[in-house]
Amino acid sequence: STVAKLAVIPGDGIGPEVVAEAEKVLDAATAGTGIRFDKTRFSLGAARYLETGDTLTDDDLAAIAAHDAILLGAVGGVPGDPRLKNANIERGLLLRLRFALDHYVNLRPSKLYPGVPGPLAAPGDIDFVVVREGTEGPYVGNGGSIRTGTPQEVANETSVNTAFGVERVVRYAFDLAERRSKKLTLVHKTNVLVHAGGIYQRVVDAVAQEHPEVAVDYLHVDAATIFLVTNPGRFDVIVTDNLFGDILTDLAGAVTGGIGLAASGNINPDGAFPSMFEPVHGSAPDIAGQQKADPTAAILSVALLLDHLGLQDQAQRVTRAVEDDIAERDGASRTTAQIGDAIAGRLQA
Ligand code: NAD
Ligand code: IPM
Ligand code: MN
Repeated sequence: STVAKLAVIPGDGIGPEVVAEAEKVLDAATAGTGIRFDKTRFSLGAARYLETGDTLTDDDLAAIAAHDAILLGAVGGVPGDPRLKNANIERGLLLRLRFALDHYVNLRPSKLYPGVPGPLAAPGDIDFVVVREGTEGPYVGNGGSIRTGTPQEVANETSVNTAFGVERVVRYAFDLAERRSKKLTLVHKTNVLVHAGGIYQRVVDAVAQEHPEVAVDYLHVDAATIFLVTNPGRFDVIVTDNLFGDILTDLAGAVTGGIGLAASGNINPDGAFPSMFEPVHGSAPDIAGQQKADPTAAILSVALLLDHLGLQDQAQRVTRAVEDDIAERDGASRTTAQIGDAIAGRLQA
């Protein structure tokens, strides 16, 4: 029998609601298999900050790092809440975890499941994965502002891209493309961001030499948003930087049936640190506490988690249960818990 230590961070807003359903499904998928998840719950997020003033202490980080994997709901308060002005939950908690645990691959699959009512009239087959760099780019916090709040203010935010960081994520993307349809698209903005874009283009060109089977193309990020809507079927693996990947994957979620279905993994492929699985969406304060959130993104994140831990059978069972549930959706509204129960129920059958 296998025991995996799982850190669970329900977080804020709809985070705890969707994580409850994800845990239900995880439990159902592993019941009777000899695989057991030993869970530790971490109370982190805006709510914790308002109570204690802490975002993520060194002790929290060390305790989380001692787990085999992390399941996270969503963190962040109501945008603009004055009490959170100095909290910086996103940077101090979420990005701190991604950086400290070296989650250099932010894996965000997009698939249009049969029966999903998407916004596109003729979507075609959509099945691609965005490999979003997770530890560099404009997210590193290499910036500052002087004369802040004055008419003379100067505010900088520098995108940091290292040869080491770009090469490792590009190599991951090529390996993934080899296992899929052997097509890789680099998305950047090389026409304007000549340095950051230049290093990505050069690294992709170099690594492509080692993967003659993989067809490589390039799109500027603005054009990529056009094709994500007009011809999303052209994509297989997209590799891109941290910020472009953030934006593209909300769009990708929208064209594949909604952000409530979009799952992600923050992966440390080397296995030196636990990887972290979370829906692409945030804490959705506008619907929090009302059982209106779709927990499917969190549940599909559990499938990614199982797959990452080498539990492919269980991962596939979860994915299939979700596909079956989606195929039978008829537009009738269900609560968060009803959706979770229905998917978990298919695993017990
Ligand atoms: P959001 O993703 O929380 O919400 C955007 C829209 O999508 C809202 O209308 C929301 O109701 C809807 N939505 C989101 N998840 C849904 C679901 N599962 N089912 C149905 N509808 C869903 O983005 P936002 O409003 O920009 O951010 C809210 C807060 O969450 C902010 O504090 C932000 O920083 C934070 N955030 C956190 C994460 C994370 O923890 N990984 C990700 C994104 C945003
Ligand atoms: C996401 C979120 C985060 C990001 C924020 C909350 C820091 O939008 O996971 O997509 O930008 O990566
Ligand atoms: Mn985002």
